[in-house]
Amino acid sequence: MAKVAIVGVGAIGGALAGLLETAGGHEITLCTRRPLPQLTVKTLGRELQVHARNVTDPAQAEPVDWVLVATKTYDAAGAAAWFPALCKRGAPVAIVQNGVEHRERFAPYVSQERLLPVVIDCPVERAGDTVLVRGAALMKVQDSALGRSFGALFAGSGARMELVEDFTTAMWWKLCVNSVGALNALTLKPSGVLRGESMHSLGMAMVAECAAVARAEGARLDNAIAEEVMDLYKKHPVDSVNSLLADRLAGRRMEWDARSGAIVRKGAQHGIETPLNRMAVTLLEAIENYPA
Ligand SMILES: NC(=O)c1ccc[n+]([C@@H]2O[C@H](COP(=O)([O-])OP(=O)(O)OC[C@H]3O[C@@H](n4cnc5c(N)ncnc54)[C@H](OP(=O)(O)O)[C@@H]3O)[C@@H](O)[C@H]2O)c1
Repeated sequence: MAKVAIVGVGAIGGALAGLLETAGGHEITLCTRRPLPQLTVKTLGRELQVHARNVTDPAQAEPVDWVLVATKTYDAAGAAAWFPALCKRGAPVAIVQNGVEHRERFAPYVSQERLLPVVIDCPVERAGDTVLVRGAALMKVQDSALGRSFGALFAGSGARMELVEDFTTAMWWKLCVNSVGALNALTLKPSGVLRGESMHSLGMAMVAECAAVARAEGARLDNAIAEEVMDLYKKHPVDSVNSLLADRLAGRRMEWDARSGAIVRKGAQHGIETPLNRMAVTLLEAIENYPA
């Protein structure tokens, strides 16, 4: 049993809350910007209410045993405003976000030994006080004392928890997949648009850029990853919408900087050219900052 706070209760935060509720025995605090008097989590064939305390102001927060951050990457500073109260007794902080810069992003706010980057795969969306989980949750963390302690929170929840030796490869593998998602956001088309021959080749080339940077960062990804990733997209339903596209369609801010931006940034550090991902960053930034 642990006292667990979730900072950012959108799609992923809601799914995590549902998993903790299913695991049972935890005291859950939901840290939100707006009141969330109730939270319903629907999975295929099942519906549950999350029993939790909801706080909307860091001044109301009390120390916990674990903090799970599930805001968007660009909301790191706002998320960190909760840490002084929640981590008063030194609680570790799990960063459940996309990208490869979890540690850099939160370095100003949490010491590295208390910080646990998490890679999550979980198709989920939130509408109002309901979270709809469309598939299984898979989380990957470093096989470490902190990773194992995090994994133990979800024992019995049904989530698949992988304790991996090589977290760098796990993070970059996911970023290789996400790098292609920029094409959906740019074309305003769902997954099916990647099936055409020229889009398929473009996707392969974007993944190849990402994989080259990943290798320079120490990830073990060979050239076959480009084909693997594009094969994965072929298995997605043609109408499936990734989060970058969903955010663009909804007029929300997009996470292009943590995805394509990270590939360009890290590439530059290693002297690796990433022209396709750079173009994606330039276009997505322009779309976001210069609306019609
Ligand atoms: N959705 C998926 O299927 C999925 C899958 C894998 C990985 N991810 C990754 O998981 C992360 C979270 O994504 P998401 O889809 O769950 O995003 P989301 O639905 O937009 O949820 C983010 C939540 O954070 C809240 N928030 C922002 N600043 C806050 C603050 N200062 N204090 C408290 N709450 C705050 C937002 O509140 P408001 O409601 O007030 O805006 C929002 O509810 C992202 O890095 C994403 O890339 C998502």
